[in-house]
Amino acid sequence: MRSIADWLEPRLAQAAALAASGAAAADLAADAPLHLGIDLGTSCVVTMVLDGEGRPVAVRLDWADVVRDGVVWDFFGAVQIVCRQLESLGTLFGDRLPKQATTSYPPGTDPRISVNVIEAAGLEVSGVIDEPSAVAALLQLDKAAVVDIGGGTTGVAVVRDGRIVYSGDEPTGGHHVSLTLAGSRNLPLAEAEMLKRGKDNATLWPIVRPVFDKMAHIVDTHLQGWQVDTLYLSGGSCAMPGVRELFAQRFPQLEVILPQPPLFLTPLAIAAHGLAGAYAEVQA
Ligand SMILES: Nc1ncnc2c1ncn2[C@@H]1O[C@H](COP(=O)(O)OP(=O)(O)OP(=O)(O)O)[C@@H](O)[C@H]1O
Ligand SMILES: [Mg+2]
Repeated sequence: MRSIADWLEPRLAQAAALAASGAAAADLAADAPLHLGIDLGTSCVVTMVLDGEGRPVAVRLDWADVVRDGVVWDFFGAVQIVCRQLESLGTLFGDRLPKQATTSYPPGTDPRISVNVIEAAGLEVSGVIDEPSAVAALLQLDKAAVVDIGGGTTGVAVVRDGRIVYSGDEPTGGHHVSLTLAGSRNLPLAEAEMLKRGKDNATLWPIVRPVFDKMAHIVDTHLQGWQVDTLYLSGGSCAMPGVRELFAQRFPQLEVILPQPPLFLTPLAIAAHGLAGAYAEVQA
């Protein structure tokens, strides 16, 4: 198992800093191999470049409405965003930018959906994995559950002896949190979304808590019959203050871990998918 504090969180912090700055990591070695991962989410498209040790070296994040309910409903919009992100990364890395990428899909949906977008953007897809499974593989978990609460979905994966033995997905996510806030405060949805992501969002917890109660109920349903010790939370919606405590109360028998900042955990796991595969091969 990888250390959350020593291995994971420095990488997540680095990803957040690079997404904000748009720059390449200052300490990147000139001969480091690069890996590319693309997370086509309901709320945002994140392209992450990693070095050979799974450290983020550049990140592009665009908030976008191109995926709904696990389906790319704006195919050309999605391709355009990925092309723009690649072009911008190309200015940092030139020919070093890989021509291959890994990508993901919500459990229970068709993996071809993301693959088609990435191929249309001119890349070869070197691996595709469902989102919570990617996180489980990244953290090298043995007996745990991963819950990915993104913009449109709540995904659950159960890991046993390092293998994914179950994964499922339900269409409730951060979008529904924003809808609840918009209804309660009588705001346009876009304004509610910005308010929710704002620095004073802790004050909104009483309004949005019922949506997270529903997500916890979804997770409980999916975990019925599975023995797990630890529950790892991922996905941007887990950045809402109060989420870890709610899950800890709802699942008192489990240790609930929320790596910070959670928005970058799934994209990091997707980009590291090839690296995780290499690790498994070395171990075999
Ligand atoms: N600071 C924050 N506080 C609360 N919610 C946040 C914060 N930052 C991001 N979010 C929410 O996280 C969600 C996006 O998370 P994420 O990028 O994991 O989803 P996604 O991958 O686009 O969606 P999905 O996995 O469902 O397709 C959005 O609903 C966004 O509003
Ligand atoms: Mg996601």
